[in-house]
Amino acid sequence: MKFFVDTADIAQIKEVVSWGICDGVTTNPSLIAKTGKPLAKVVEEICAVVQGPISVEVTALDFEGMMTEARKLAAIKDNIVVKIPLTKAGIQATKACSDAGIATNVTLCFSAAQALIAAKAGASYISPFIGRLDDCGNEGMQIIEDITAIYRNYDFNTEVLVASVRHPIHVVESARLGADVCTVPFDVLDKLFSHPLTDIGLAKFMKDWEKVPK
Ligand code: G3P
Repeated sequence: MKFFVDTADIAQIKEVVSWGICDGVTTNPSLIAKTGKPLAKVVEEICAVVQGPISVEVTALDFEGMMTEARKLAAIKDNIVVKIPLTKAGIQATKACSDAGIATNVTLCFSAAQALIAAKAGASYISPFIGRLDDCGNEGMQIIEDITAIYRNYDFNTEVLVASVRHPIHVVESARLGADVCTVPFDVLDKLFSHPLTDIGLAKFMKDWEKVPK
């Protein structure tokens, strides 16, 4: 499973890249807003440090507007993936991008039915938002199981990109279910490293090491 980092914060991205586990980056308008910088500046910074796919979202809501933004974003660098909301106009734009060879990440997916539509339109990635489903009292991970099974049934090339990840169990479950990608916020990625027994074990090894004659 590929690890993308779900942030537009360049310091966080650089740190995850330095760990050697950053396969790509996903952003959205809220994450861009948090940086306090213009979109073009943020994209330029990320492109300078990330070789893998970088998802950048369109903000137009109509087909023509989405296509204008998609062409502009795709022209920035080969690894830009155009993030498109799962609306009728968005699916229409996804199909047009797919026909034009522009990579897409269909976002704001909350059901297996929506994921099926995105795959039929030729999306490169589908982003089911599992944390937001959990927040509404639904079992977010259930749609990952459904989508991976449906895509397998029909050999769709669309990659399942688990989004709206809130804790390490979401990451482990994504991998158990065979998701292609999990996009993980920085604080959750950081938590993946930790286990109290690792800390206790290391402290004991270091203490015992002091007793070894040097
Ligand atoms: O990038 C989209 C997604 O991961 C959003 O997550 O935490 O705002 O639901 P969240």
